[in-house]
Amino acid sequence: MTEEIRMLGIETSCDETAAAVVADGHRILSNVVASQVDLHARYGGVFPEMASRAHIEAILSVIQKAMQEAHVGWDDLDAVAVTYGPGLVGSLLVGVNTAKGLALGRRLPLVPVNHLEAHIYAHWLEVAAEGAAPPNLAFPLLALIVSGGHTELILMRGHGDYIYLGGTLDDAAGEAFDKVGRLLGLPYPGGPAIEKAARQGNPAAFRLPRAWLESTYDFSFSGLKTAVVRLVQQHGGPLRGRTVADVAASFQEAVVDVLATKTAAAAAERGATAILLCGGVSANQALRTTVRERAGVPVYYPPPILCTDNAAMIAACGHFRFLSGERAGWDLDVEPGLRLV
Ligand code: KG4
Ligand code: ZN
Repeated sequence: MTEEIRMLGIETSCDETAAAVVADGHRILSNVVASQVDLHARYGGVFPEMASRAHIEAILSVIQKAMQEAHVGWDDLDAVAVTYGPGLVGSLLVGVNTAKGLALGRRLPLVPVNHLEAHIYAHWLEVAAEGAAPPNLAFPLLALIVSGGHTELILMRGHGDYIYLGGTLDDAAGEAFDKVGRLLGLPYPGGPAIEKAARQGNPAAFRLPRAWLESTYDFSFSGLKTAVVRLVQQHGGPLRGRTVADVAASFQEAVVDVLATKTAAAAAERGATAILLCGGVSANQALRTTVRERAGVPVYYPPPILCTDNAAMIAACGHFRFLSGERAGWDLDVEPGLRLV
């Protein structure tokens, strides 16, 4: 038997400082996430300069903790994988420069990872959780990436082989959750807060618009957000209790309705063997259930800790990029606007 490959993953693209060690792209030996949510909550969103500073303060101890928890030393590692985009430029710089310094100092190969691709690779991590993908996933697979910055439908034909089917023309799904959460006076981030409030609400209380953008796999959430702004204005003051729950439930259903319908249709049209829900918004239970109800193929979603930003997915993705021979030079730069396809 050949020795397993151990990858240190580093992630700092937005507001989570994360490091993880993953063996053979599947087995999580450690997964450490230092969240900055409390820091940004008072501004109702991510404050870029503060995010960079917080990454600088946390990164070395997060990496140290990830290696301790994995019981590995530098000699046990085979490579370092790091997110170089997309994301906030100042945040990305902290991870990339730290990874470069460590890889150069320890003579380890450096593997560049696209954060969006890594969200898909969360499905290759072995976890004993309901909804987790089996180890023998067969291509083609349909990935719905729904996060704070992205909403994309991607057909994955093989490792590193993607076709872009559609995406948002304006706000990302998570961004819409965060903005509506703020309008409703809910805490940041809006996604989990809206999901919680929606449990007490009636999704049929308000008829909110859905942008179907017929015969495309594109999305638009700005009209829906404007409709919620108008609702709040018409109300003439801050919404409370029952009304907040009803608007949250109606909004969530409008987002989920469009995402689930288009995802199921794309999977059927492209002959996907399964659907992979990826990114922070895929932690949403209503989304998971509705896609499952509408899809004719199995639907998989990682446990919440692997849906939102983490470094285990960076190490998993880095493993497959490493196997395909990808290496970054010491001139690796960040690419804030990096795309998957
Ligand atoms: O993937 P992620 O952690 O970071 C990015 O790469 O953007 O996604 C964060 C986004 C936020 O917009 C957050 O509100 C949303 O995911 N989110 C959710 C839920 N949990 C996180 N949205 C809806 N329902 C949830 N349960
Ligand atoms: Zn993300």
